[in-house]
Amino acid sequence: MATTMNKRINLMKPWVGDEELKAVKAVLESGYLTDGPVTREFESKFKDYVGARYAVATTSCATALDLAMRTLDIGPGDEVIVPDFTHPATADAVAMVGATPILVDVDKKSYNIDFKIADEAINDKTKCIIPVSLFGNPVNPADIKRIKSNHDVFIVEDAACSTGAMFNGVKTGTMSDITCFSFHPRKVITTGEGGMFVTDNEGWYNKAKAIKHFGGEMITGKNRFLFNHIGTNYKLSNILAAIGVEQLKKIDAIISKRVEKAEYYRKILQGNGLLTPPFVKDGIRHTYQSFACLVNHGTNRDSLIAGLREDNIEAQIATYCLHLEPFFRDSAKQYGSLETAEDLFHRAIVLPMHNFLSDEEQEYVVEKIKSRLQ
Ligand SMILES: Cc1ncc(COP(=O)(O)O)c(C=O)c1O
Repeated sequence: MATTMNKRINLMKPWVGDEELKAVKAVLESGYLTDGPVTREFESKFKDYVGARYAVATTSCATALDLAMRTLDIGPGDEVIVPDFTHPATADAVAMVGATPILVDVDKKSYNIDFKIADEAINDKTKCIIPVSLFGNPVNPADIKRIKSNHDVFIVEDAACSTGAMFNGVKTGTMSDITCFSFHPRKVITTGEGGMFVTDNEGWYNKAKAIKHFGGEMITGKNRFLFNHIGTNYKLSNILAAIGVEQLKKIDAIISKRVEKAEYYRKILQGNGLLTPPFVKDGIRHTYQSFACLVNHGTNRDSLIAGLREDNIEAQIATYCLHLEPFFRDSAKQYGSLETAEDLFHRAIVLPMHNFLSDEEQEYVVEKIKSRLQ
């Protein structure tokens, strides 16, 4: 086992290469650089991959979530329930349209929203819930079904980290009213920056398409738009979409490799009692966008991250606890105790996870964790 490592072990290294270069070159040579036919191809292949009817490419998951809020006419006076332990983008989408995020606690094991608490938090003002399939661990479709059958609320899933995840054979992107994905370089597949809005509802699809394109809908038979909606520009260029088309060809290979790496971490972490690896229920295909472990109570997680960085290992906190961030502390409402989210915020650490990670590098990471904590 190596006791020193000269090269830095990165948190993530996207799997991009000659295929993506060739595809981008072809777009550049075509002269058609903005949102266009390659973007349509990416949308079409993406919706087929996840098994949904419609997909709208956007500039990020944050803008896809914003598009979802605007498409569903969520605005001032409305409340939207979001998990407290998530990326700020989840709740920003709510605040950006003038609605109020209601922060609820998450489940200790899955790290995802606690649907029992979310159910209790629903009131007359609740327009929507945004469950997050965090770190690649999909939310349970049965929970979504139960909420939908008991309440008149929309479900917009934040699946930024979960392209390709599955729960008992149900693929992420087919269980919620609208699902939003991210193609940031730390995600399962990447376009540099990019996102996708996915739905089975034709009306929402048409509206989202218009809003992302300045609010305009093409008039059939005429070469111009009719501006029916408020709009903006969330268009994904052909250049970035070309990378996405190539990435989709590799997605299942990417996920399989990440699962392999996660299993190897579990094996070499087993029995040392220093870190608890992520819990994964039977029947789930986790994408391991992040391999988020927990340090024991009393262990200083931040010192561990700093120490690992000295060892040339890029580790970091898993995500945020929104009620501790100034903007959400002052503007969001909290429902019930947020103690699990707060505990996870202080104890969760993500380890390097990507397709190029060697067994030796993973062993080195675990060896250094041991020497820093024992
Ligand atoms: C849960 C979650 N939602 C949304 C986002 C935002 O994604 P994007 O960077 O594509 O806007 C992230 C980014 O890390 C995330 O982790």
